[in-house]
Formats: sequence, structure tokens, C-alpha cells
Amino acid sequence: MAKKLLLQHVNVPGIETLEVYRQHGGYASVEKALKTMAPNDVVEEVKKSGLRGRGGAGFPTGMKWSFLAKPEGVARYLVCNADESEPGTFKDRYLMEKTPHSLIEGMITSSFALGARTSYIYIRGEYFYVSRILEKAIEEAYAAGYLGENILGSGFSHDCYVQVGGGAYICGEETALLESLEGKRGNPRIKPPFPAIAGLYGCPTVVNNVETIAAVCPIINMGGDEYAKIGIGRSTGTKLISASGHINKPGVYEIELGLPVEEFIYSEEYCGGIINGRQLKAVVPGGSSVPVLPAHLILKTDKGEPRLMSYESLSDGGFATGSMLGSGGFIVYDETTSIVKNLYTFARFYHHESCGQCSPCREGTGWMEKILHRIVEGHGKPSDIDLLWDVQRKIEGNTICPLGDAAAWPVAAAIRHFRAEFEEYINHPERIKDVKHYYSVHQLAEA
Ligand SMILES: Cc1cc2nc3c(=O)[nH]c(=O)nc-3n(C[C@H](O)[C@H](O)[C@H](O)COP(=O)(O)O)c2cc1C
Repeated sequence: MAKKLLLQHVNVPGIETLEVYRQHGGYASVEKALKTMAPNDVVEEVKKSGLRGRGGAGFPTGMKWSFLAKPEGVARYLVCNADESEPGTFKDRYLMEKTPHSLIEGMITSSFALGARTSYIYIRGEYFYVSRILEKAIEEAYAAGYLGENILGSGFSHDCYVQVGGGAYICGEETALLESLEGKRGNPRIKPPFPAIAGLYGCPTVVNNVETIAAVCPIINMGGDEYAKIGIGRSTGTKLISASGHINKPGVYEIELGLPVEEFIYSEEYCGGIINGRQLKAVVPGGSSVPVLPAHLILKTDKGEPRLMSYESLSDGGFATGSMLGSGGFIVYDETTSIVKNLYTFARFYHHESCGQCSPCREGTGWMEKILHRIVEGHGKPSDIDLLWDVQRKIEGNTICPLGDAAAWPVAAAIRHFRAEFEEYINHPERIKDVKHYYSVHQLAEA
């Protein structure tokens, strides 16, 4: 059995209550940090752990914390990003729903490290019922003296609030989130200044993902050096993976980073193989924004080495033959999947979610949706593939926030690896029309 640091107690009855959570070692990191450590020691342990942000970009957490400006007399904030709207990603919901106190504990320990008197958990509107679970946990934490004035007699005081989001994917982008938290429309801000200098209400702010903040508890309990021994290379620790698609056992899994992708897909401990004994066609390993990889490239790198579930291995080969770990939204497609139709679904999503501030994203996502729509409806032109390629290239890198990249990368990867499938749709529209329920190139050819 693989090591579990975040989900080891999820099946314990009553673990969502403070009493049972404490019986299983809960709030030990708060006790340790507030009673025996200086704030900077906590930052140093997180640095030593090698923890990288679990929200998608994988930025080193300790380094981000050390960038936080500390001007005298100015408030500092910790904001937890619980917006979780990336298609294919549902691990934060699971963690918050099952063990809400692990997030609250992480918020207190992390806020102590950062010197933040106040913190916010910004949670997507659709997770309203989870916000209630968190609020209950916060209430219990206040009653037990883990929140409020002079926590555990340490002199550190802290308040934590839950804010339900406005229901837009863009509000997961950290500066759009801050705008939304301030009560404004969730438009991303131009950076710099980064939130560590001017974030919430113009004050120094750290924005971290739910899983990142929860991971701070085991790091403080076991020490950064011990945590760094788990995982592989610069991908330390454990990672929550949301596994979905054509697998026998979809769900949220905690893996040790470095696990071979093949083992993750086929072993009984994790996904349990492809449904109905079908063949694996492709995988989107890190949420809808990251490049799709065909079966041979997700199982092995182009150097023939086993592909591992780690930041480095999944991106090995760059975008030519690699992808990204991203948020860990692992979407598996079997041989019956139409990559083109799936891409159309993603394109609709990104067009709908573009905030509209930047022309390349506002217009480009719409064009990509339109072109893909006509291809899947059998009206595609031979020039459409190159047109799609051209449009995605003009979006990438030309927007204020990475939503534009997130919309462009899946299009580029689908064309790069599955061009023949686009050609099939365009050259043989009669097959799509006649047999709409046949999806793959293979089946279209048979029809
Ligand atoms: C369009 C968009 C949506 C995002 N959505 C989320 C999200 O739902 N949750 C999250 O943690 N990070 C999300 N991010 C990344 C955040 O901007 C930010 O990098 C992250 O919260 C930092 O936390 P971490 O360092 O702990 O990973 C999103 C980024 C973009 C561009």
C-alpha cells in the first residue's frame, strides 16, 4: 500500500468532526508550530519539503511564501483557492468534504507561518454544500480554541472565513479570485504586481490551492526533510489524483509522486484498467487544459522510459511528446472516444469561460469553437485544421492570464497527435452523418 498523508483517515466514521479528527492526530501541526516554532521555522520546513503548489502550475510553495512582502503595519492574507473548476478535477472537493479539518488545520498553521491575522477560503459556488461542511468545521475550531484570539496561549490570533464564489472558471485564476473576493467582477489583473506584493485589498497575499495547504500539516508533523524523501526528484510528497473517464474504478487517489502511469491505470489499487477490456486510446493527465497524449506516449516517454506520475516525467519531451501533471485531473479515453468531439466540448467550455478582457482569448476561443463545431457536424473544410492551428498559436502567450493558453494547448495537442482523425471527419462527412454513435476513426473506417 502506498503512503497516504492526506486521505489516510477518510473512511473513519465521524472524521469530519473535530473530536474524531483529533483522535487521529488532528491539529498536531497547529500545536507543534504555535507552541514550539517561530513563523519562519515553519516557512523553512515547507521549503525543505520541496512541496510544489497543487493547483496546477507546480510553483514551489516555500519559495512563494518567502516572497511575501512584510511591511510594518500592513495586513497580510492567506487565501485558499477552492474554486476547483478545471474539467476533470474534483480532488479538492473530496478532501474538503471528507476531512474538512485538514484544510482548516493547514490554514491556521500556514497563516501562522505567514503572519496572516485573517484568511479566506474561496470556494466555487457549486460546492455550496461543502461550504457548509467547512463552516461547521470552522465553528468547531473556534470552540476548541484553534481559531480566534491568542490561540493555545501562543499570542497568535487568527480568523478564517469561507466565501462562496461567483460560479466562473476564471475565478480560479488567482488574481481574478482576489477581484471576486473583493466583490468585483472576476477579471484577472495584470502582473506584476504579484499578489505577494499587492494582493487582497492591495495587501501582501499568498494564494494556495486546498491540497497545498492541507499538505502543510504532514510536513510540519514529520519535518520537511522526511517529506522530501517521499516521491521522486523535485516531485516530492504525495499527490491527489482525480481519475475519470473509461476506467473501471474512477475516483480520487492519493499517490506517491513517481508512480508509473501504467501502474496507475491498470493496477487494482488505482484505476483498475480500462472498462469492458477495451484498449487505451489517450489520456489527459492534468485537467482539461493540459495536452492530450496518445496511449504510447502516456505509457512511455519518447526515449522509451516508463512515464511516471511526476511533474518532470509527465512533461518530458516538452509539448512535442509530453504533457503536464497540472491539477492531477487524469482523464482516460478508451478506443471508442472521438478526440475531435471531445475537443469540441473543451472548446465550448473555454469560449464560455473566457472573461473577454483580452481579444486573442475572447475572439480566438469563439473561433475555435465554431471551427470545431462545423467539423463535428460534417461541414469541415480541408483548410480548417491549419486554421485551427493558426488560431490557437495566436492565443498562446498573448493574454493577461493563462486561460488563453489553457484553451490553446488542448487544440494544439489534438492536432499534433490525432491529425488523421480530423481529416477523417473532414474528408468523410457522410460517415459522421450516417453513424453518429460511431466515434473513433477506427470505427468510422469500419462503418
Ligand atoms: C483559468 C484558471 C483557473 C484556475 N483555477 C484554479 C483552481 O480552481 N484552483 C487552484 O488551486 N488553482 C487554479 N488556478 C491556478 C491559480 O491561478 C494559482 O496558480 C493557484 O491557486 C496557486 O496555488 P498553488 O501554488 O498552491 O498551486 C487557475 C489558473 C487559471 C489560469
